[in-house]
Amino acid sequence: MNNLFYSRDGTPFFSLGGQVHNSSSYSEETMRRAWKAAEALGLNTVAAPVFWNLLEPEEGVYDYSQVHMLLQQAEAHGMHLILLWFGSWKNGASQYIPVWMRTQKERFRWVQTIQHFETRVLSPHCEENRQADARAFSRLLAYLKSHDTKGIVIGVQIENEPGQIGTPRDYSDIGERAYKSRVPKAVMDWLQEPGPCAQAGRAGGSKVREIWLKHGGRTQGDWEEVFGFHAAEICTAYAFAVYINSVSAAGKREFGIPAYVNVWLGEMYNRVAGIDYPSGGAASRVLDLWKRFTPDIDAICPDIYYNDYLMYGNICEKYAGPDNPLYIPESGATAMNAVNTFRGIVEFGLCGIHCFGIDSLTDREGNLKPGVQEYANMVRIVRAAAPLIQKYQGTGRLYAVTQYEGSAFDYIDFGDFVGRVVCTNPLDDPYAEDTRPYLDAAHTEDEHYHVRGKGLIVYEGNGSFYLAGEGFRLNLIRKDTIEGMTTGVRTSNFQNLRHQEYLEVAEGHFEADMKFVTDRLRTGDECDHGLWVHSDIGVVHALLEEGMK
Ligand code: DGJ
Repeated sequence: MNNLFYSRDGTPFFSLGGQVHNSSSYSEETMRRAWKAAEALGLNTVAAPVFWNLLEPEEGVYDYSQVHMLLQQAEAHGMHLILLWFGSWKNGASQYIPVWMRTQKERFRWVQTIQHFETRVLSPHCEENRQADARAFSRLLAYLKSHDTKGIVIGVQIENEPGQIGTPRDYSDIGERAYKSRVPKAVMDWLQEPGPCAQAGRAGGSKVREIWLKHGGRTQGDWEEVFGFHAAEICTAYAFAVYINSVSAAGKREFGIPAYVNVWLGEMYNRVAGIDYPSGGAASRVLDLWKRFTPDIDAICPDIYYNDYLMYGNICEKYAGPDNPLYIPESGATAMNAVNTFRGIVEFGLCGIHCFGIDSLTDREGNLKPGVQEYANMVRIVRAAAPLIQKYQGTGRLYAVTQYEGSAFDYIDFGDFVGRVVCTNPLDDPYAEDTRPYLDAAHTEDEHYHVRGKGLIVYEGNGSFYLAGEGFRLNLIRKDTIEGMTTGVRTSNFQNLRHQEYLEVAEGHFEADMKFVTDRLRTGDECDHGLWVHSDIGVVHALLEEGMK
């Protein structure tokens, strides 16, 4: 699978992070609670905004103290950083630009609505805006190159949920001019490339091409002539993509660390661009166009606050692809998101997940608030399993356990073994085994049972299984002759569990080079109820007598 973040030694790095609230990175004082929360959540990365108005208080005069403070504090807390460049746009508006820009209205131009009301959004069609942003961003990256000698910053986000909220296109004179111009040759050539437009993610096909063909497939004309109803969004998306790509390119000339753009999803409310989500951002309708015109941006990343199975899968399908690593920069610290993360890792090659607003996830004493625990457990599980993810993601040997409402079981075909996943929490499954199975003496409280089944299983082959997770156990049956699989010692769950062909069952952890270190062996009662997991015990390794007989 493709990754976005890497450690300094070049190994892929799974970023388990949290984003601070929008104004928290203002000072050391306001960051205090965020660091505490990051520690309570067990994160390895904190994402924090860098404000353009602080970085460049006067034109051409740069003040790096905010960045310096973040670097220093991240190092002191043993965390990595992702810096969010709150430049021209933040959530489809332009709140973070310096005052000297705001006061030069003729030079730095703003988006207007159809009634010529001036919005609080910088125009993507203004060359002065673009140049100013690119200059400031490149100074930021030059600073990082010379001051982050330890590789604390693993990536930068360019802008934040860019696009324009309030109007589907810019009706100012420069916006009108762009809209009424002929669609650039580069776009026309791309539309006419043979085959489905490339870079369309796993969902396949190209939305913009589809729109173009439906509108008659004209080979020249202005945006409206070529794209019809969706022309405003497509023209605006092109302008934003080209602008932000050039900001990224300017940064990369100074320092080539991973740079991505995050997306306010188009799958919102009535799904009208400019009203329900910012027009011009890399919403799914224009994602293929964005990908094509942002060669200097490493990934386009969806902020996924949806928890439900269908929407989560739908969005991942659209954004994850061989040309676009799936990193989720914003999400909620919910139990469902924790479950979905394991699905994301296995089904969509997820390479990092951040939840939003960490500094309000703990109380004043620094304890996790109710409802956040399962997310923190997920973080712990993924950290323990990170070497397995790195080795097995995308190989077909990594399986996700994800428990959703109405089901307490799963069935996995491992090739030479059959696995039955039994969750400890019934979650409305009328057939759930209400046995409150024994884990071990240290895991008898409700909190060890009343969690959604979630985690990862690796089957390496030759009878070697690794498990990490919580709220489930795995019962195995070796695939055998029909007589072997239907003998009494297999068909009765009780008997089957007592006739497992374990050579060894161990709890442990990984050290460098995938070296598994045993912390405790499991035998007796601790083995007789299946291969169980919990978030505080690291990884379970079960070695069975040779898998295929
Ligand atoms: C998405 C934005 O990108 C964040 O900066 C923040 O405003 C959250 N929404 C709030 O939910």
